[in-house]
Formats: sequence, C-alpha cells, structure tokens
Amino acid sequence: MNITGLAELRAKAHEALRLRANERPVDGYEYHALVCGGTGCVSSGCKSVKSALVDEIRKQGLEAKVRVIETGCLGPCNLGPMITVYPDGIFYEKVTAGDVESVVTEHLREGRPVNRLLHRCPDTGRVLARLPEIPFFNRQKRIVLRNCGIIDPLSIEEYIGRDGYTALARVLNGMTREQVVEEIKKSGLRGRGGAGFPTGLKWQFTLQAEDEPKYVVCNGDEGDPGAFMDRSVLEGDPHSVLEGMAIGGYAVGASKGYAYIRAEYPLAIKNFGAAIKSAREMGLLGTDILDSGFSFDVEIRVGAGAFVCGEETALLHSIAGKRGEPRPRPPFPAQCGLFDKPTVINNVETWANIAPIILRGGDWYAGIGTEKSKGTKVFALAGKIVNTGLVEVPLGTTLREVVYDIGGGMKNGKSLKAIQSGGPSGGAIPAEYIDTPIDYEALAALDSIMGSGGMIVLDEDSCMVDVARFFMDFVQDESCGKCTPCRIGTRRMLEILTRLTQGRATKEDVELLIELANVVKKTALCGLGQTAGNPVLSTTRHYRHEYDRHAVEKQCPTGVCPMRIGPAQAKK
Ligand SMILES: Cc1cc2nc3c(=O)[nH]c(=O)nc-3n(C[C@H](O)[C@H](O)[C@H](O)COP(=O)(O)O)c2cc1C
Ligand code: SF4
Repeated sequence: MNITGLAELRAKAHEALRLRANERPVDGYEYHALVCGGTGCVSSGCKSVKSALVDEIRKQGLEAKVRVIETGCLGPCNLGPMITVYPDGIFYEKVTAGDVESVVTEHLREGRPVNRLLHRCPDTGRVLARLPEIPFFNRQKRIVLRNCGIIDPLSIEEYIGRDGYTALARVLNGMTREQVVEEIKKSGLRGRGGAGFPTGLKWQFTLQAEDEPKYVVCNGDEGDPGAFMDRSVLEGDPHSVLEGMAIGGYAVGASKGYAYIRAEYPLAIKNFGAAIKSAREMGLLGTDILDSGFSFDVEIRVGAGAFVCGEETALLHSIAGKRGEPRPRPPFPAQCGLFDKPTVINNVETWANIAPIILRGGDWYAGIGTEKSKGTKVFALAGKIVNTGLVEVPLGTTLREVVYDIGGGMKNGKSLKAIQSGGPSGGAIPAEYIDTPIDYEALAALDSIMGSGGMIVLDEDSCMVDVARFFMDFVQDESCGKCTPCRIGTRRMLEILTRLTQGRATKEDVELLIELANVVKKTALCGLGQTAGNPVLSTTRHYRHEYDRHAVEKQCPTGVCPMRIGPAQAKK
C-alpha cells in the first residue's frame, strides 16, 4: 500500500465509523452495539451476553439495522458486562444474557432505551444514560486509551478510520530521523514503565549509537500486582503500540522490533499477533513500508511470568533465550542492548503515546500535565472504592479527583486510609495527602512512586503492616537471587514483617527492618531489590504507630493480623 491507498482506506473506514461519532450513518446500519470484551468483562460473562445479542438480533431480523462489535476494555471493570449503543452512546451496565431481549426489542427495534439497565448517579439515583454524562468517563482525557472500547481491536480498518497509521505515513514521507526524535523530546514524554526516563532522550542515544543493527523492544511484561494498563492497551488497541514501534524503529534506524508479552495475557498475545498479521498484509509492516524505502517488522516473545523479567536488562536476556536475570547498567540498552546491539526499550503505554504526539505535535502534548510531568497517565484503580478499572487523566490531576470524582469514592461508607501507588516498588500515601497532584516528583516526595500506574485504595480496615508484608512476600518470591542483598535481605525483611503480624516481634525488630530496607535499597543490583523496601519505608514513615502497636502491645489495630500471642504471653 502507498500513501494514497492509506488515505482512501481511511476515508472509507471513517465513513463506517460515523455512527460511533454520533454522526448520521452512511453504511446502512442504524445502530452499532459495542460489547466490552476486555479480560475483566470476559470474566464477568460478556461472551454469553454477546452471543445472546447476536442471536436475538438475528431472531428479530435486525441484522441489516444493527452491527455488533466486540471491543477491548472500556474501563469501568466493576460495571461489566457492558453494552454501549451508538449513535448517542447509550450505556448499559451489568447486562446479563437474560437482559438482551429487552435491549433488542425496546431499544434496537423500537428506539426506547431500557431504563432499568442504565447507569445511575450513586448519590442522587438520577439516570445518566449516555457515556459522556457519566463522571467516570467525562473526567478523563484519553490519549493512550483513545480507541479502547470504541473500535474492534481485530479490525485494522477501524484503527485506520480513527487516523491510525497516519502518523507513520507522515514520518516516513516527510520527516528526518532527527526531526522525529526532536518532536518526541519536545513533547516531554517520560517512560510509563515506572522510572519515568525521557523517551526522546533515550531515542536520541540509540540514534547516535554507531553499532548496527539496532532494535526496538516493547516491554509488555507488566508484573505489578493490581496493574493491567498494558494488558488492556495490547488487547483493546494493539495497532497503536505497533504504529508507535514502527515510528520508533524509523527514528533510531532499526528494522526489527520485539514485543515481550507475558504468557498470562493470552488475549493480548492473540490480538497483538492478529494486528501484526493484518499490518503485514496491508504493507504497513515488512519491506518498503508505504513506498518509503523503510522496512520494519515485529515479532512477539512470550514471557514466562517472572516479575524480574520486566526489568529491561533481564527482559533483553530473556528475548535472547538466556535466563531472565538483570545485569549492571551501564552499559545501557541504548548502547548495548538486545544481542549486545543498540536497543530502544519502551513500555506499552509509552509506545501508544507516540502516534498522537506525531500527529498533533510535541507542543500539544507538552501543554498537558505539569511542569516536569507531561501528558496523561493511565491508572488501574483497585481496592475499596466504588468504581474500579482503568482511567486516564492528565498528570497533575489530584488523588482526590481520581479517587472521589472518577472512582466514585469509598465503598460501604468507610473512610479512606491510604493509596498504595506504584505497586511493590511504591508506597502508601496517607489520606491526608489526598489533594496532592499526581506527578513523578510529588509522589516521590511522599515516599511513593507513580510506577506503572497501579493504584490500590485502602480503607480504615486495612492494616499497613500487613500491606507491607504482602508486598514483601511478593518481591522476595520474585527475587531472582543473583545478588545477596536482595536474595537474603528481602527474606529477612519478610520474616520480621511476618513476626510483627503474629505478635512475635519487638521494637528493635522494627528498627532492624528499616535498616535492612535502606541497605538493600543502596546495595541491590537491579530495580527490584533497590525498590523492595519502599512499602516498608513509606509505611514506617507514615504509620509508625501501627508498627509500635504490633511490636509493643502485640495488637493489630484493625484486627487484620493473625496475632498468635497477645501482650500477656509476650511478657513471659
Ligand atoms: C523489577 C522490575 C520490573 C519491571 N517491570 C516492568 C514492566 O513490567 N513493564 C515495563 O514497561 N517496565 C518495567 N520495568 C521498567 C523497565 O526496566 C524499563 O525501565 C522500561 O521498560 C523502560 O520503558 P519506558 O522508558 O517506556 O518506561 C521494570 C523494572 C524493574 C526493576
Ligand atoms: S536485586 Fe534482586 S532481582 Fe535484582 S538482580 Fe539482585 S537478586 Fe536479582
């Protein structure tokens, strides 16, 4: 395909998508019924809802009037299974196969939305029928998730109809490599995999590296407990990642890319694999893309599910067929990466940001966010809040807006105790900091990190010692054992935390725990060990009284911990 071919296809596909933009239909359909098919909705039964919908439409002879589309994750996972009907974006939640007949009869045949399945404002009970009326959606700014829940991820035409591959075409036919790198630098985009390193700068280092060939890698390992942003993007909009990788390949001078996706993500692997296949068939991957002379192809590597394999040097070893163990840096992958060649490795979300930056310009992107943290960030909201799921907000949005305005506040009238951000590498942010704007620096100042975007909301019933023990259990289990501080240090820390939760530890143990956390932080080889103590350091800083209650009074203030011995026995 050449550029003209792409433009023609885009115009045609755009027409087919007009209904979903609430414009007059031109493809003969009166309705598009979108069923969310993300992994969360699959587990709540969306497959049976979809097949009931297709059957009922056929039974009522409405196939020419209604098109059913299965999308990737729309976001509010606790409301699934969901159906959104366009035009208008009428949103049905918690739909069962038994509800489908009324949707088809009343809405799709007679034009009257089914009131009982519509979303209601939790405070007032007022019906919020359309997607844009619902606070969960209208408080977000969706760049990375621009197509998730709106297009069929298996249709490259639908992606192209939403301006997909237009950024690649622009880059290949009008920009030098240096100009592309400059645009990404201008955007201020920082890597979304956790460390927040400036993406443009990383690309520049690889572009300037002299060795050949060069590689592009997508980190889709996503091992943080509670995080599923990358999975949802790979499932719901795989072409956005693929297009970003192709642009990155052009910018640094690579003609081969690898996407490392963990084996526990079968739907992501399937949809990403299908995207590679259809992009190849259309000539958007492979040799001489869009008659530009640039060749680029991508392969998937399935990861075996070790958290440490998300660490970039371990991941590159794993792709090369070696044990997924980290190595010291420098040299950084930009100089010596995959097969010891210059390599750009970026996170899924980072790659999904690239095409919009090229299309709308680095200045546009840099206009969103805070002084040092630009653009938007996708968060996986979990824990004791009303709305759980995926949200994308501009950086600088406060924790309060995410937890209360979008997340709908605390469940069961409980009070907020803390927000654990950044997963096992992060920390617990106490409720009093709820008005903190979310960006890399502000969270670090509170002893936490943004990490890859996991956000677990804890209520008054959570025990912070138990939370620290949970994360320490995870990291000591996942430690690859290559370096002593991490291998032994995480185990000793877990033992102390376990003793604390059982009423068998002393105040001195708490001091030792803090000392160990600091030592492992300073001496471990890779980021896993270097951040393993963070949940301990943040909880001992902000909730020291809870540790003391466990250590001195042998009591768990929230009653979560299985105290084996009480104060009386402890004195003996
Ligand atoms: C233990 C550990 C696990 C990691 N897991 C991931 C992961 O699952 N996905 C990811 O993108 N980055 C992960 N990272 C960060 C990567 O090493 C690397 O910084 C990132 O892929 C770079 O991409 P970015 O600049 O786009 O963020 C992990 C780091 C460590 C130390
Ligand atoms: S810090 Fe832990 S995970 Fe990293 S290399 Fe050392 S032992 Fe392995």
